[in-house]
Amino acid sequence: MDKLRITGGRRLSGKLRVSGAKNSALPILAGTLLSAEPVKISRAPHLHDVTTMIELLGTLGADVTIDEKLNVEVSACKLDQLLAPYELVKTMRASFLVLGPMVARFGEAQVSLPGGCAIGSRPVDQHLKGLEALGAEVVVEDGYVKASAPRGLTGTQVYMDIVTVGGTENLMMAACLARGVTTLQNCAREPEIVDLGRFLQTLGANISGLGTSTIEIEGVDALHGGTYAVMADRVEAGTYLIAAAATGGDIELIDVDPATLGAVLEKLQHAGAQIQTGETTVSLDMGGSRPIAVDIETSPYPGFPTDMQAQFMALNAVADGTASIKENIFENRFMHVQELNRLGASIELHGQSMAVVHGVDRLKAAPVMATDLRASSSLVIAALVAEGTTTIDRIYHIDRGYETIEEKLQQLGGAVQRVS
Ligand code: EPZ
Repeated sequence: MDKLRITGGRRLSGKLRVSGAKNSALPILAGTLLSAEPVKISRAPHLHDVTTMIELLGTLGADVTIDEKLNVEVSACKLDQLLAPYELVKTMRASFLVLGPMVARFGEAQVSLPGGCAIGSRPVDQHLKGLEALGAEVVVEDGYVKASAPRGLTGTQVYMDIVTVGGTENLMMAACLARGVTTLQNCAREPEIVDLGRFLQTLGANISGLGTSTIEIEGVDALHGGTYAVMADRVEAGTYLIAAAATGGDIELIDVDPATLGAVLEKLQHAGAQIQTGETTVSLDMGGSRPIAVDIETSPYPGFPTDMQAQFMALNAVADGTASIKENIFENRFMHVQELNRLGASIELHGQSMAVVHGVDRLKAAPVMATDLRASSSLVIAALVAEGTTTIDRIYHIDRGYETIEEKLQQLGGAVQRVS
């Protein structure tokens, strides 16, 4: 099993190109099932989760080809089976996003229930409630969600009881082929939802209100083919910015959308970073100084993202002062706390959703274990700061969301090696 070996103490410095967004590429690939014509996706990141989604599309019977520039072309003119098996859904929850497109286009779909995962129970009740409102008959049987709408879906008003990214995406895709108008209320406003919406518009969908909490979709009979480039990964971008800040470094990110990073850039400024943004660039300069502790509270976009809570905790671990971190989205997203404390951090947990981080002068290397994707990246940040050489085990978690992380960190001067 691969591990990362990181020797801390070097300031990150230099330029880095940001990859395409995992959390945008996954729903977009699921959305290719809505069209019978070829759809070409560029800038999909080269990640395990993207490979799993491509494998799922292939299992369903879509033709998927990948060219030398890693553009993915999906042709789902017909499918062989309308069943997404447990084996694939259990390895990646985003597989559940094929449900909406399949039932909308083919009138039938069976998708394994994703079940809980390391960071929380993560139910899908809002996805199912919405599909039922659109006229699908939904039963949960033998661990599968079985949805059918033999006469197609019908547009309606759907109010989601909680703000859910995946729920908004599944329902937005389903509504594209429903008869009439669907109004989705209390939608998530994440940039990845806007990106998915723009992709669907490229294929001929009628969608308005993207990026607001009310999205209106006027169904069409069919979507056509098209070409679409996935947006930049704001979580990857934020992770490298936080890593650079924790090491007192200075970096410039290119091919990024600064507008999607608002809450994170503001917190980095409070931590003492000089930030400059261009149209597609973000520069950060810490001038060699130690960060200042900053309180964080996660909330749906445009609030501070849960996907960057762990990384900011690593920064606070070495900051000057004490900070509180409140996690409001997932009930078990503090697994990195124990591992950060193994590196010498001083973090106390107060219940399941609050942590208090007392910044320490220095961290010290220790063997640690990655537990989930973003928790792993917080360990990478801590290891970059710690004295000595830290080994991070189970880095398959990191590979789900960060393209060639060791190469990118080496490019910025980090002493990082992948070992098996
Ligand atoms: C997406 O997960 C992201 N995944 C997650 O990225 C991200 O952490 C999360 O949104 C929140 O921003 C992808 O985009 C592939 P939700 P998703 O539905 O869609 C509850 C990463 O590290 N809920 O917005 O599954 C749920 O349990 C990750 O890249 C219900 O109760 O998240 C959670 O508490 C992991 N019922 C909250 O809502 C539902 O029907 C938000 O979940 C749906 C969700």
